[in-house]
Parts: sequence; structure tokens; C-alpha cells
Amino acid sequence: MIMSKEAGKIYAEAAKIWNPDRVATFKKFGFEMVMGKRQGSYFEDLDGHEYINMHSNGGVFNLGHRNPEIRQALIDGMDVVDAGNHYFPSRYKNELNEKLLAASPENMKYVFTLNGGGEAIDAAVKFARRATKRQRIISLACAFHGGTGIAMQAGNPKLAEFFNMTPDPKLYTHIAYNNLEQLEMVLKKNDTAAVLIETIPATAGFPMPIENYHREVQRLAHQYGALYIADEVQTGMMRSGQMWCCCKFKAVPDMIVTGKGLSGGYYPMSAVIMNDEAASWMKEDGFAHTSSFNGTELGCIVASKVLDILKRPAVKQNIDQLTEFFQLNLAKLQQKHREFLVEVRQCGVIMGLKTAHPLGGQALMVALIKNGVWAVMADFDKSVLQFKPNLLMDQITAKKVISRLDQALSEAQQMVSTPSL
Ligand SMILES: Cc1ncc(COP(=O)(O)O)c(C=O)c1O
Repeated sequence: MIMSKEAGKIYAEAAKIWNPDRVATFKKFGFEMVMGKRQGSYFEDLDGHEYINMHSNGGVFNLGHRNPEIRQALIDGMDVVDAGNHYFPSRYKNELNEKLLAASPENMKYVFTLNGGGEAIDAAVKFARRATKRQRIISLACAFHGGTGIAMQAGNPKLAEFFNMTPDPKLYTHIAYNNLEQLEMVLKKNDTAAVLIETIPATAGFPMPIENYHREVQRLAHQYGALYIADEVQTGMMRSGQMWCCCKFKAVPDMIVTGKGLSGGYYPMSAVIMNDEAASWMKEDGFAHTSSFNGTELGCIVASKVLDILKRPAVKQNIDQLTEFFQLNLAKLQQKHREFLVEVRQCGVIMGLKTAHPLGGQALMVALIKNGVWAVMADFDKSVLQFKPNLLMDQITAKKVISRLDQALSEAQQMVSTPSL
């Protein structure tokens, strides 16, 4: 059990006033993690044990923990602005929108900024319904789009069912990933507002798309009068080696939804990037969608700095080097542990490690944390571990990850062969 006295106290209190089941689950896994110091690829627990962050909170820490440039931008920003006023335009909002549009396909014309990924998905769906005057949303049964109302109903329906919000089948259709025939069958009803696709479904363990999948999604959606929304919350922001992963697959969506890493790990920010059609509501009633923290000025300053960093050739070079390094070394580990590590899924530094056991991803998560690496199983397929370094990780750290993974693979294989898991 990894636990300090102080962490034990925090967990005991958390069980009472924070989240009893989460606390019980972490205890069952054998660790009571409370984060202490953090910097770059590393964080410590309260006893000073060091962990390499290979989850990066799904991309929140794309630029590492407490990135010094982001931190400085936030501090400098606090000297001159605050959240600002969501009613008024501002130079910081314009600056961020210009940078997001410059990094997006040419058809993109407007940006609407919010605070969380789920909130941005909700907004994108609303914009599509307004633009098309239709209501149905087609999405992947294996996707996760967030915990807000619409996003939750568009994702794997189990979560919505848990909250007694079973999606109305007239409004939501969940289809299988990589199944274009099923998509077309639903589109033929001619009542779909949008096809919402998580470019590589994270919570399903990053199964890779079939060839031309996203281009076909785009073509079919348009053929039947629907918009195509790409959920790039996990796959965007250079993680695939390109700004947007859907563009790497040569698809041009009508809306791109981004979040997580846009925050720089400091200030919650998300955005819907839209073409003219998707943004039509803003020419009809610009006050129709507001919230107090839309496009906060401090958030825009932080997100602008994130985009400045992502644009640097050295960052792209590092991502390409990490991609190659993990490709080579994970192949070696797969060879060595071939009975347990049955598949390595990879697109840039989006990675999923599929094991032979239905709970192998969970076992690997537990074994890794004991070896000083934090990575999270895929919730909808616990045989898989999500593996996401930050984009600036150095080679020395990447090497440590591989050697600790080697050890953890043996331990996890051992674990799944015992009946207690
Ligand atoms: C692909 C995807 N979309 C949307 C979301 C929702 O983002 P948020 O948690 O910021 O609401 C998530 C969160 O994990 C996600 O993984």
C-alpha cells in the first residue's frame, strides 16, 4: 500500500465529504495517492515518491505540469486583466481565436470558447441543431464526450442511464465504431443534425480507425444534410503529430471541439471551432448562448500561450522523436511480453496498450504506479491501458518509462493470474 500518514488522513476525510466510492476504489487498488510537488513530466506524492505522468489527464498536461511559460503568462495576465466580461469583445479573445483559426482547416471561420470539453460538446450539438433545424445526433457507442447533459447522452449510454437520463432514441443514435454501413442507414432517415465522432475513442482504449474512416464520415454526413463534429478533446493539440488528428486523417469537419490541453494545465478552457454554417446562430442571435465564463480574458491569455508553444518546430520535432521512440521500444516490449501485451495502438503519442486479459489494463495501471508511473486503464475496455506522455517529455524520462513498463508488464501478468483481481 502506497500511503503516508497525511495521505491517510486526507483519504479518510475524503471518504466522508468528497467521494466515498472513489476513495474505496483507490484503496482496493492498493494506493492512496495525494499529489504533492509537480513539474514537467513528474509529480510526487506527499512522501516525496516520484511518478512519471503517462496519463497527462487525457491531455490537460500536454505541456507538462506547471509549465514555466504558461505560469508566467498567467501571472503577467493577472497583473492586467481578470475574467473579463462575456458580453464584450476583447483583444485577448480575438488573439486566441485568430491563433485557433490559423491552426485549423481553411473552412473554419469562428471560435466559441468555453471552460470544459463536455460543455463545448453540448454547445457544438446545439449549434448543429440550430443550423440544420434537425435534432438527431449520431455518435459512437464506445465514445466519451463528457459528463454534461447532451455530451453524456451522446457518449456511451451507460453513463446517462446511471443518472436516469436514458437518451431518447428519436434524438440520439449510437453506432459501432468503424461501421460506415450502419452510419449510412441512420443518415438515410434524413433527420440527423450532426455526426459526432471522437477521432480515436480514448475511453475505449484508442482503437484505430479503418482507412479513410473520417473522410467517409464527412462525405456521408454531408450527403445526407448533417454536420460532422470532430471531438478532438483528447486527440487534438498536436498529440497525433498534427494540430488536429482528424486532419491527419484528411477529414475536414464542420466543427472541431477542443479542451483539456488548451488550459495549459492551469486555466480551464475549451473551444468550438466552426465553419460558417455551424456558426449561423451567431448571425441571428448572438446572445442565444452565453455563460458567465465564456472566453474569460485570463483563459484566453493562457490558451494563446499554449498555441504559441505548440507552433514551435522544436515541439513538433520532439513529438516526432517520442513517436518513433515509443514505436520502436513498445514493439520490443510486445515481442518480449507477447503473451500478455497483445497489441500496441499508436498514432503519434496517442497510445493504447492492449493486454490479453479483460482486466489487464487495470492490472497494468496498478503495477505501473508501484513502479513510479501513472497511467490509466481505458474505462470502457479495461484490457487496455491509455498511455499518453506530455508532448515535451525528454528522452531520459521516456527511457525510464519503458524500463518501468517492462517491469510492470511482468508484475501485471502475474497479478491477472491470481483470482483476487
Ligand atoms: C474525448 C473527450 N471528449 C470530451 C471530454 C469532456 O471533457 P471535460 O472533462 O473537460 O468536460 C473528454 C473528457 O475526458 C474526452 O475524453
